[in-house]
This record gives sequence, structure tokens and C-alpha cells, in this order.
Amino acid sequence: MTTTFPAGFLWGAATSAYQIEGSLGADGRGRSVWETFAARPGAVEGGGDGSRACDSYRRWRRDVDLIAGLGLSAYRFSVSWARIVPDGRGRIEARGLDHYERFVDALLDRGVTPVLTLNHWDMPDALMTDGGWVDRSSVDAFTEFAAAVADRLGDRVGWWITQNEPWIIALLGYQLGLHAPGIRDLRGSVAAGHHVLLGHGAGADAIRERASGARVGCALSLFPCDPASGEPADRAAAWGSDGYVNRWYLDPLLGAGYPADMWGHYERALGGGLEDIIRPGDVERIGGRSDFLGVNYYTRRVMAAAPTGPDRPFPWRVVGPSGDVRRTDEGWEVAPDSLRDLLIRLHRDYPGVPMMITENGGVYGDTPTHDGLVHDGRRTAFLIDHLRAVAEAIEAGADVRGYLHWSLLDNFEWALGYRPRFGLVHVDYPSGRLTVKDSGHAYARIAATGRLPEAGPPVTPFG
Ligand code: FCB
Repeated sequence: MTTTFPAGFLWGAATSAYQIEGSLGADGRGRSVWETFAARPGAVEGGGDGSRACDSYRRWRRDVDLIAGLGLSAYRFSVSWARIVPDGRGRIEARGLDHYERFVDALLDRGVTPVLTLNHWDMPDALMTDGGWVDRSSVDAFTEFAAAVADRLGDRVGWWITQNEPWIIALLGYQLGLHAPGIRDLRGSVAAGHHVLLGHGAGADAIRERASGARVGCALSLFPCDPASGEPADRAAAWGSDGYVNRWYLDPLLGAGYPADMWGHYERALGGGLEDIIRPGDVERIGGRSDFLGVNYYTRRVMAAAPTGPDRPFPWRVVGPSGDVRRTDEGWEVAPDSLRDLLIRLHRDYPGVPMMITENGGVYGDTPTHDGLVHDGRRTAFLIDHLRAVAEAIEAGADVRGYLHWSLLDNFEWALGYRPRFGLVHVDYPSGRLTVKDSGHAYARIAATGRLPEAGPPVTPFG
């Protein structure tokens, strides 16, 4: 069994600004869409928001010590858009840039490779006057942000992620209204997703003009879609869903244009008019600008055919996985083989594009126990099983450059608030005390040796 990773493989962890920083009013930061959304009654489970979170804006030195102490060679973080362009356009806030410059320099001093994300969902609220991502002007606003950050950090950051999870922005932010800015409008969500991709293209150009050696990519949330049965209708449902979730973003980013089958589904659901949103020349502005693909992987979807209806714009639905499969505490199936197969598929369908696992992780609610430690054996098993899947994909030819676990720290999990714990490090929110979990120690050993242990710790079959 392959358990050795290539030399230079990046071992890291990931976070994002709004989820960890707190200090929302510090150093001239503007308001982001998440403050406005989190203030809506019932929008966030438990009523939490990002006002304190992990206090990482103030305690960034602690975070750098933690990352370096675990021996990680890479750290993915995001730059808060509203700290850099508080009004959404125009004035650049130098104090925000100063902060990220100090942070990046400290990572580099400790030998940690920064992987910088620009938009991890915290658009300045001022841009909502024009409709946020629904309006095409968002592309220019995002490009101003990208240029400002690249002007300051382009000489020292090598890995850039323009956008985090365009599909999730479109789906949860603009189609279902479950994330900021809380809009429910299918046509608006198609426009939002398209403008996020155009932002990738324009942002990537702006970064490259300022950072010649930069590697620029977009991080996609990819969910393999399997049919619930061998019936042709279910297989068509799985393929359709794959178009909706995965190919609608992969194909244009990696130069193939929007997939015709999903174009047809959107045309039918919207009653036409897609070409008003996706204009001539747009796909050329999106494709051919990715030095790598960021893969965020959590689980798979099992799909069945279903009639369309008022709340179902497309002829499919998610039906599983059902039954006694291994699940995280959030109920998501633990499916490492699907990660392996996904990476092999991406290597086959989009040859020559290096990949980075930019997120992968699971919710396990373990907290400090009798000895003050966090014995999260299920997370350790999850981690090892997914790393083994990555190793198998590399063995099969996939060009995977690194693995960034979600997350370094327990943090603000968007609409789910502080309940789900994704961290390698436990955060006691009231006191701010951090405890490296057993999984964090296990990951440190893997990162130090570049090798996986033969087997993970025993897990209960359905735990
Ligand atoms: C991803 C997000 C990330 C985190 C994980 C659990 O969709 O990019 O911020 O919430 O899910």
C-alpha cells in the first residue's frame, strides 16, 4: 500500500478570516455581508456571529506558533475583503494590509508556505447596494481588492486562491438564502456564480501582473454524484447533478466553457435568458487562468430522478447515502474512496492541471476529557483514510501538490454557528484556551515523516 508522499508535498491546514478573526471593528475594517446576515433572527444556529470567534486577528502570533509547532509546511488563510476595501470600492485600508503582511512574514520566517485566499465569502456589505455578486460590477470591485492585496504581498506569497467555492456562494448565498447575503432567487444565483467565475479570471490577471511567480487557482467544493440505482433515470440524475455542482464550475475554469447539458437545465428552469447573464467573450475571460485547481472535498451525493416542482428546479434529488454508513457527527458520510476516484477523474478529464486539496475534514464533537486532552480518534481515522486516498490517487498519476486540512481551529461554522467542531485544535471559546487534539498530534507526526501509519486507530464501524 502506498503511504509515502512526494518530496515537497505541502502539509497544511486551512481557515478563513470571518470564521476565526473576530475584532470586526478593528483597524478601519468595514462591515461585511456576514455581520448583516448573522444579525437576522434565526439565521445562525445559537445566534452566534464572528465578533469574537477564535480572536485570531489579535492573537495571530499564537496561531503562527501553533502552525509552526505542529510542523506544518503550509497554511491556508483568507484576507478579509472588508479590512482591505472597507467601502467595497475605492479607498484601500493600509492597516488591514499591514496586518496580513506581518502575518505572512511571520509564517515565512517559520518556514510555512502561505496559501492566500481572497474571497472566502466576506464581501463588503457596501457592495450589496448594487446587488452583491448578482451585479456584474462585483467583478471590478473584486479585482480592485485582488490588485490591492497583490500589490502588497505579490512579492512573497506564491499560492493564491481567488474564490472559495463558487457553487456554495451561488447556492447558499443567492439560491436558498441560507448564507449571507440571504437571497432566494435562482436567476440571481446563476448570475452570482458567473460573476464569481469572472472575478476569478480578472483577479487572476491582476495577481499575475503584480506577482510573476504566483500560482493562481480557485477552490471548488466538489461532490461526486453517484446514482441511487443502476436505472437509467437515476444515472441521468447523477450526471445532471454533477453538471449542477461540479462541471458548471470545472469546465469553464479549465477551459471547456459551460457544459451544454446544464445550460439546458438552467434554460428550462429559468424560462430562458441565460445569454443575458453569460455574454459573448465571457468564457474566454474565465478559462485558461488556473495554475492549479483547489479541491475542497467533504463527502459524496447519492442521486435519484425526481419530478421538478416549485422547490425543485431540476429533475433530481439527493437521496443518500442512506443506512448504516460511517458518518461524522454532522451526519455526512465518510467516503475517502470517493476522494480518490474524484482526483483520478479530474486528472483524466482536465489533464495537466495540478491539484491541491484546499479543504477536507469532518465534524467530531470531542472536547477535553478527564486528562484535559481531546481524544478525537475518529478524526484521526478520517484524516488517515483521506490521506491514504490522496496517496492512491497520486500513485494512479494524479498531480496533487498538497493537503490542507479543514480546519486548524474549531471555528465559526457559518449558519451552524459554533456547534460543529472541525479543528485539529480545540478552542474553548469563553476562555480562548487552545488544546491540540490527538488528531493534531497525529497529523504533526505524518507531516514530519511524509508517511502514513499502516492503519488508523480502531473506529466503531458506524461511528
Ligand atoms: C466549506 C467552507 C469552509 C467551511 C467548511 C466546513 O464549504 O469553505 O469555510 O465552512 O465548508
